[in-house]
Amino acid sequence: MSEAQSLQAPNSNSETGQPYELSDELQARVDTLDLNETVEHAKENGYGLIRNPSSLEFNDRLREAILEVADGRRSANLLLGKHPIFAEVVMNPKILAMAEVLCGKGPLLSQLTCSVRGKGARALPLHADQNWTPAPFPVHNQIATFCWACDEFTKAGGATMVIPGTDAHRRHPDPDEVAEHKGAIATACPAGSIVFWNGSVWHGNWPRTIEGERVVLHMTFGRMSLRQIENYRFLDAAWLKDKPYAMRVILGREDGLSVSA
Ligand SMILES: [Fe+2]
Repeated sequence: MSEAQSLQAPNSNSETGQPYELSDELQARVDTLDLNETVEHAKENGYGLIRNPSSLEFNDRLREAILEVADGRRSANLLLGKHPIFAEVVMNPKILAMAEVLCGKGPLLSQLTCSVRGKGARALPLHADQNWTPAPFPVHNQIATFCWACDEFTKAGGATMVIPGTDAHRRHPDPDEVAEHKGAIATACPAGSIVFWNGSVWHGNWPRTIEGERVVLHMTFGRMSLRQIENYRFLDAAWLKDKPYAMRVILGREDGLSVSA
């Protein structure tokens, strides 16, 4: 990987910048990777498409690896380390560049999961991914989700649905908007493409009505600024035993996150 394509550590100073305003270094990387159109599309619509992130041969190997790890299940999580190919995917220069565009310098890998959806897989209702954040959502995007489509994305195949531009609402959809999903389109793309979206845009899944399986690798990146400055993971059950519930809450032991199995 060339220097221009590598990710840099975050700055600790306080910069001022508008969303989608790129540093010279990041702009050069976007130029090199031919991602200017992708950035513009994401800025306008809240989501986008990365074409040809790798070869079709790589896509086939990734699909095989996902099916191997899923082992007959519909999904599997905590994939990094479970097969060597996943480490290659998260180092993909186009993914890293777009993660930085959407989440700032030093984006953190938050989740790496897969899904295998067959005929009859139900629709996923409309939502925004930026959970635990009250509306109005911050101007600067906090998380970004990337779906590597190992199989072609079509509406009948259960592609991700998205309502372009709904990130401008800076809130989750209400129940009526979820039921109506007015303006929703399918993120149609060929096998081996990546569909991504920011944390505010409304999206879901169409149900799958055709034969075969839709195999997808899901990657979520988050802005690093809310990461705990000190790491208290070493405090074990014995230390926590006599502490109040609130202690577990402030250490993040009661939020259902940090999935470890
Ligand atoms: Fe989502």
